[in-house]
Amino acid sequence: MIDETTVAILIKKAREAQQHAYAPYSHFSVGAAVLTEDNRMYTGCNVENASYGLTMCAERNAIGSAVAGGCHMFRALALVGENPDWITPCGACRQVMEEFHIPEIILTKSNDTYKIVSLRELLPHAFSL
Ligand code: THU
Repeated sequence: MIDETTVAILIKKAREAQQHAYAPYSHFSVGAAVLTEDNRMYTGCNVENASYGLTMCAERNAIGSAVAGGCHMFRALALVGENPDWITPCGACRQVMEEFHIPEIILTKSNDTYKIVSLRELLPHAFSL
């Protein structure tokens, strides 16, 4: 299980990435940070597009960066947004997390309160091969 100090660092990194969110349509900035099995961290932010459906979520961008860095094994993912209430990943991102079996998902509120949930809680009866 991920320790408190590492959670705080992951949230901080996710907040840094959130600063770079490209969200001119929704005006909703999101940041994510993943912790790899060998303790590297990769971040992502949402990147929107005038063709709305092409928007990429922060979580998938963070996971994609880690994969490009040679990592397929993860310990955790932290997600930050602007919600006073918990931000939770969209369905597409949950399915991508399932692909890489990310065990611990750190959900936050805008004041950085956090809670850790399992992927199985977020995506019961997941599709996988
Ligand atoms: N968004 C994410 O980046 N991650 C999520 O899990 C939920 C939604 C982004 C997509 C879009 O740019 C904005 O938040 C509003 O939906």
